[in-house]
Amino acid sequence: MIVLGIETSCDETAVALYDNSKNEILAHELYSQVNLHAQYGGVVPELASRDHIQKLLPLLDTCLQKAKIKKEDIDGIAYTAGPGLIGALMVGAALAKSLSFAWNKPSIGIHHLEGHLLAPLLEPQKPNFPFIALLVSGGHTLLIKVNNLGAYELLGDTLDDAAGEAFDKTAKCLGLPYPGGKALSELAQNGEARFKLPIPMGNSNNLDFSFSGLKTAARQLIEKESQNALLSHQQKCDLAASFEKAIITSLVHKALAATKKTGLKRLVISGGVSANRLLRNQLNEAQNKNLEVFFPRLEYCTDNAAMIALVGALYLQKGLTDQNLEIQTFARKSIC
Ligand code: KG4
Ligand code: ZN
Repeated sequence: MIVLGIETSCDETAVALYDNSKNEILAHELYSQVNLHAQYGGVVPELASRDHIQKLLPLLDTCLQKAKIKKEDIDGIAYTAGPGLIGALMVGAALAKSLSFAWNKPSIGIHHLEGHLLAPLLEPQKPNFPFIALLVSGGHTLLIKVNNLGAYELLGDTLDDAAGEAFDKTAKCLGLPYPGGKALSELAQNGEARFKLPIPMGNSNNLDFSFSGLKTAARQLIEKESQNALLSHQQKCDLAASFEKAIITSLVHKALAATKKTGLKRLVISGGVSANRLLRNQLNEAQNKNLEVFFPRLEYCTDNAAMIALVGALYLQKGLTDQNLEIQTFARKSIC
């Protein structure tokens, strides 16, 4: 079965073609609107929707050409149904449903977080169910027990900011453009974590997260360090390294605690922050005969349509489509 995936939940327009008989992405295209929004310091929803309209069909054409297939070869269409910016989501959903009508092929709305959650299944070395997932994105920080496709138990959540949000806000304090998580991490590579910052929820026994205390402490530290003179490049690198160390220590600590608590020996990390180098290194180091760790490749960590096509194929294969509304609500009920 070949499934077309469409992702337009925020500021990335993405299209992918997935062949489930080979567990292979035949082609995937992504246009990032980051430059469009950077001048405003964040995503402007109206601009995002308008740009998705411009980019979607050309990206689909490119995808078909690269995959060397015709539209007649597509067996179903999966699109991100939510959560996300409503106007942006509507552009993707409207295209998916129009194509479904025109081509007489089923469509299916996919929960964006379920896409992130299962993205590591696109890898040749993929985790078997059940596993623990740490889903760390711009809007969410979740620990989930993934029992099977569609069978999810929420173990922990953030009480305030998401990890990606804390990265982006701290990056902004360091003068980095939005979204600053990746840029902050690049600065941190040349820095020394010499400033002491609180490890979020380091002593709590539950599996919840909280990043607003760390975010405020980092902002106050940056303000203090820049009180008398502009920050030097090295100071910025050291501040970034100190912040990164504190937040990653918290994520690693809770993820490992979740595996211990449940006795599960497979840990999956996904979502935009799973691209973080320190997080990947620390969890790879924690890997041993009692713990296997899985990540999506870097291009499938942040928003993409490959993960939407994959999850769409998994459900379409089971005969679930937009006509079967049960599917539309299950993920929202269990992980949101
Ligand atoms: O999953 P994603 O692409 O979008 C959402 O669904 O939110 O995640 C985006 C988030 C942003 O906050 C971004 O700064 C963060 O992921 N991010 C990173 C890195 N790459 C992306 N954070 C830390 N280190 C990175 N290398
Ligand atoms: Zn996302």
